[in-house]
Amino acid sequence: MTRSYEEVLEKVRAGFLDPILRRSHRDSLESSFRSALDRLEEMQYGTPIWWSEGEEADYESASKRDMPESTSEMGEVIPRLVRFLKGIPIYGHPETVPNVIPQSTIPSIVGVALAAICNPNIMEESYGGKVCEAEVEVVSFISSLIGYDRNESSGFFTFGGTGTNLYGIKLGVQKVIDGCREKGIRRDVKVMASEVSHYSLLNAMDWLGLGTNNLIKIGADEDNSVSLEKLEKEARRLLSEGKQIACIVPTLGTTDAFGIDDIKEIVALRDDLVDDFSLDYSPHVHADSVIGWVLTVFNDYDFDENPLKLPGIENLIHLRDKIRYLYMADSAGIDFHKLGYTPYVSSLFVVKNRKELELIARDRSLMPYLYHTGRYHPGIYTLETSRSGSGVLSALSSLYFLGKDGYRVLLTHAIEMTQIFRRKIKKIGGVILNEQNIGPATLFRVYPPPYKDNSTSIYKEEIDGDIELLKRCNRYNEEIFRKIDEQIRSKGVGIVFSMTKSYKKTSYGEDITALKAYMTSPHIEEENIGHIVQQISRAMM
Ligand SMILES: Cc1ncc(COP(=O)(O)O)c(C=O)c1O
Repeated sequence: MTRSYEEVLEKVRAGFLDPILRRSHRDSLESSFRSALDRLEEMQYGTPIWWSEGEEADYESASKRDMPESTSEMGEVIPRLVRFLKGIPIYGHPETVPNVIPQSTIPSIVGVALAAICNPNIMEESYGGKVCEAEVEVVSFISSLIGYDRNESSGFFTFGGTGTNLYGIKLGVQKVIDGCREKGIRRDVKVMASEVSHYSLLNAMDWLGLGTNNLIKIGADEDNSVSLEKLEKEARRLLSEGKQIACIVPTLGTTDAFGIDDIKEIVALRDDLVDDFSLDYSPHVHADSVIGWVLTVFNDYDFDENPLKLPGIENLIHLRDKIRYLYMADSAGIDFHKLGYTPYVSSLFVVKNRKELELIARDRSLMPYLYHTGRYHPGIYTLETSRSGSGVLSALSSLYFLGKDGYRVLLTHAIEMTQIFRRKIKKIGGVILNEQNIGPATLFRVYPPPYKDNSTSIYKEEIDGDIELLKRCNRYNEEIFRKIDEQIRSKGVGIVFSMTKSYKKTSYGEDITALKAYMTSPHIEEENIGHIVQQISRAMM
């Protein structure tokens, strides 16, 4: 039935909040949320994945669907939306351990909802209101956690950890190639990072026009931190050949193994290089600390008194000692949507010396319709034009709610659970690949009979050069992963964990496949770990 303009207008108006938010007018928003949550509740079966019978993803049919011609009732829209949530791991579930994706705190979920309602655009104050102040507050919190001088530092939210790496490298390039913003990049400059750095650095190299071949990857040591010896040797070689190094990117918390580069030594090396080669620029040091930043909550924890009675403090002190020099980086990336317990996307780029942002600022005359009022105009130097306030509000909510103590406890719990997991995995003949990396992540391999009874020496044979054995065991581990994954995806039962085809390469250049478990759920207990290991063990039969 075709309805008139007036009828449709009246109907669609009911789908918006009243411009004056009053209790009586909130009903439809509140009841819509309630209905969404009710539907969501029906999609859980006590297993680690949102799941409903007979709702397989159907890309074939989706690719042929048309937009509806007429309006729908709000009540019809929500169930249609909720069914698309099938197949997402339930991140808070204590047997969901695939990656660095924790559950979001309730306040941070509300933070996202508030941003959706008020829709701040934090490119400038006139559209972002006091959410701009909230962004400054988060920068202040993080600067002080890291150890930056808040009178000098600055920062802003951006599109993911990838965005933070892009900004870091961009600043480095600006320091080396004068005029490149106007004339383009007309010569090679190098960026250095470890072989186990995140691939988003390659994206940055590609998208900035630097070329991926100019990312120089340096071998990592046994503890998955960049080899300082190799880094120094390569940097000196490059500079002696007259090449320029725009940026060095230490990773503090590698994606798979939770390796932490020695930033203090890297900055000292950078300073030596500037002196020894009489450089007229200083290679920018950008810390990819999107995972590891949260460890800075231990920087000022009183380990002698240990007021929270944290268990395993030798592990925490070890981590504190690795993260405490993060302040030496010229800039750093912080992902709240990783160990910040905040929804996607919530990423902050912080810079030690705010004057450096002038290197990427645009002339105001290019943006004549903006920045006429207010005092906060980050849109002058951000890559993005519109920037959502959602990441800011959700990050701030988690920071307020958890405080340093909340993060300290969550991290400690994750590390404790990880230690238990590692012990149990060894009992089923598994080998821990990142034994030296204390943290929430475990990379491990399991072995079929007859190898599993002496798996440690089998692993040694693999990495010492038995390529056939390595490939066979790589395949075996991948099969174990696929078996468990298939069960959860097709029946909604089991556990959610993950696999990396190549956590790193052997000295002879072959991929080492690893199974991966990341213990971030605040709800996880030893019993859950027993169950996770049991599932893996069963898949090995
Ligand atoms: C070390 C590291 N850096 C950068 C990124 C990219 O972050 P995002 O996925 O938020 O873009 C990741 C993602 O896992 C990462 O592990």
